[in-house]
Amino acid sequence: MKTGITELLGIEYPIIQGGMAWVAEYNLAAAVSNAGGFGIIGAASAPPEIVREQILKCKELTDKPFGVNVMLMNPNAEEVAKIVIEEGVKAVTTGAGNPAKFIPMWKEAGVKVIPVVASVAMAVMMERTGADAIVAEGMESGGHIGQTTTMALLPQVVDAVNIPVIGAGGIADGRGFAAAIMLGAEAVQMGTAFLVAKENIVHENYRNKVIAAKDIDSVVTGTSTGHPVRGLRNHMTKEYLRLEKEGATIDELEKITLGALRRAVIEGDAKDGTVMAGQIAGLIKKEATCKEIITSIYNEGVELLNRGVNQ
Ligand SMILES: Cc1cc2nc3c(=O)[nH]c(=O)nc-3n(C[C@H](O)[C@H](O)[C@H](O)COP(=O)(O)O)c2cc1C
Repeated sequence: MKTGITELLGIEYPIIQGGMAWVAEYNLAAAVSNAGGFGIIGAASAPPEIVREQILKCKELTDKPFGVNVMLMNPNAEEVAKIVIEEGVKAVTTGAGNPAKFIPMWKEAGVKVIPVVASVAMAVMMERTGADAIVAEGMESGGHIGQTTTMALLPQVVDAVNIPVIGAGGIADGRGFAAAIMLGAEAVQMGTAFLVAKENIVHENYRNKVIAAKDIDSVVTGTSTGHPVRGLRNHMTKEYLRLEKEGATIDELEKITLGALRRAVIEGDAKDGTVMAGQIAGLIKKEATCKEIITSIYNEGVELLNRGVNQ
């Protein structure tokens, strides 16, 4: 399947692994790219030299293109933005802010720019500032979210811009892939589905919680702070939501979540850590390699698209 995104990124399958803080390090990104998808290293708030090291290690494991997710609110964003150019990274996805000030230098260096947006207005603004493509991310997603579902957001973004759109949020099998393509997407981005990839470094307690999750097991914390985050329900989210209801300040709430994603991903604290994952976790039943995840979703999706209707 050739789409605007497979052409833009030089990949075999229109499947992108979302940049994920702590989770999406070089092993996962390289495995996804080697499997024919597009792997992304999540720079999150990592120090710039660590990001460079991650890029170099990824290059040792794959000669296929991969990307870096740059969180713009991170004080190190400017340095990371330059490292991406110096290391010849194929594409950046950006979150948490407006990448406008970096777009000219990235474009000049040939780095493709793909902002992640949760609204039509942001998508239009990003196209005007020179983005090469857009990730339209629905609120079913794991991690930081907007307010609109993928089903509603994706076709509206597709209608509003002329650059290729990638659908994200709630996609973890061929049916979701096919649905996103039918809504006008030229690729999908998945996060939650890759939490159980055999090649990643995610602690087994985290993986097991994703595998055990049911449809209603994710909750949104942080709505009162203006930065809502979706993760799996646990002792931490219960405590957080209780404090939010009581009107706790941002500082009081941050005490609970400071370092909590790292504790969950690396140390396996699935009780008091932040187990970010999307609503689609309920569909994920077992671990698999990146190749298995990507090819099964693609093959099933293409078969459904060719079939057209259930018959
Ligand atoms: C554990 C986790 C961490 C994430 N961290 C980031 C991040 O640092 N930057 C970002 O742009 N998106 C982040 N995301 C969102 C993903 O990149 C992706 O867009 C999202 O997971 C897609 O929805 P899905 O979870 O339903 O597949 C994260 C998601 C998860 C599950």
